[in-house]
Amino acid sequence: MSSNTMQQYRLYKQGSTEGLRLETVEKPRLRSSTEVLIKVHAISLNARDNQIVNGTYGAPVREGVVVVSDGAGEIVEVGLDVDLFKVGDRVTAMPMPGHNAGEYPEPRLYTKALGSGTDGLASEYFRASQEDVIHMPSHMTYEEAATLPIACGTAWSALYGRTKQVTSGDVVVCMGTGGVSFFTAALALGAGARVIMTSSSDEKADKIRQHLSHLIKTQDAFQVMNRKKHPKVETEVKRLTGGNKADFIIEIGGVKTLPSSIRCMKPGGLIALTGMLTNIASLLLWGGPIARGIGPAPRNEMKRMHRALEASQFRPLVDKVFEFYQLKEAYEYSLGSNFLGKIVIRVAKD
Ligand SMILES: NC(=O)c1ccc[n+]([C@@H]2O[C@H](COP(=O)([O-])OP(=O)(O)OC[C@H]3O[C@@H](n4cnc5c(N)ncnc54)[C@H](OP(=O)(O)O)[C@@H]3O)[C@@H](O)[C@H]2O)c1
Repeated sequence: MSSNTMQQYRLYKQGSTEGLRLETVEKPRLRSSTEVLIKVHAISLNARDNQIVNGTYGAPVREGVVVVSDGAGEIVEVGLDVDLFKVGDRVTAMPMPGHNAGEYPEPRLYTKALGSGTDGLASEYFRASQEDVIHMPSHMTYEEAATLPIACGTAWSALYGRTKQVTSGDVVVCMGTGGVSFFTAALALGAGARVIMTSSSDEKADKIRQHLSHLIKTQDAFQVMNRKKHPKVETEVKRLTGGNKADFIIEIGGVKTLPSSIRCMKPGGLIALTGMLTNIASLLLWGGPIARGIGPAPRNEMKRMHRALEASQFRPLVDKVFEFYQLKEAYEYSLGSNFLGKIVIRVAKD
């Protein structure tokens, strides 16, 4: 391959990973003086990436889009007017370009998210406006930082939105051991909150406890509830909190789990909705919680998040690292339930 070409994965047909094609294309050139060129070192998969490939994603997906929104890399070229970065800086890209501040992205930005409406990072090089890039936490590897943008950004948005911010002593229920819940648990513990994590597996929850042990200061700061043994999550949350119930819940289940999630909450507690909903107005009315849709973190909040991660020297949990030629395998692996932590794909060969 010549030094002017590179490889990238494009999605031509939704339905399965069969629609993904690895192509050799021209390396991108800067189109304006405020753009940067990033050599992508690692990318990471979210539930969203599978939905995009399978055809179950809620927003439009452009035919032929370069897939995957999350990644980290090194700046290898800067435009003449770039003043925020220099060659060699280690960065992550904003998954929703243009979402710079504010709790919710402007509706038009949803159609421009990376990996669905706009070309994403499953590519050896990625061109971006300097405004759509931020420095990655300095203590992390590329593989670790690649896991942050969507999952950790969503967790940050849930705990540090305008409506309600997590504080020391709050009870935060994290549903499942997936990406969003794992990062929420880490951020909540870092803020001095108490975490109750539900999981289908004691083994998965134990591994999370081990990984977060440096953030767990007291015995009851991190408690686990096996949702197979205790299907009534609200009863267990009530018991573990002495009847006080929760200040936050990361609601990922949607219609099946939301009634139980509402019953877990203190009046004024916040249900961070990251999944699907239905009409359950009466439960919300009588339970009195605040339910808020959670969007991706804007650039200014993502910068605060990276500073907080640096301060606590927190490291993401990476389950498995695949090579770039194994991207389809990585997608298939992420559809299973035997992984814990993030799935990463190494892109750069050096
Ligand atoms: N709004 C946003 O901006 C945004 C951003 C990111 C993600 N999301 C959405 O949030 C959800 C989670 O994303 P993710 O990336 O964290 O997913 P993930 O890494 O695939 O994690 C899913 C985990 O949730 C648990 N789980 C599955 N079904 C459950 C149920 N019925 N009740 C309780 N727990 C259940 C399982 O953990 P255990 O086996 O340990 O129980 C599973 O491993 C997805 O629906 C995704 O589309 C939204």
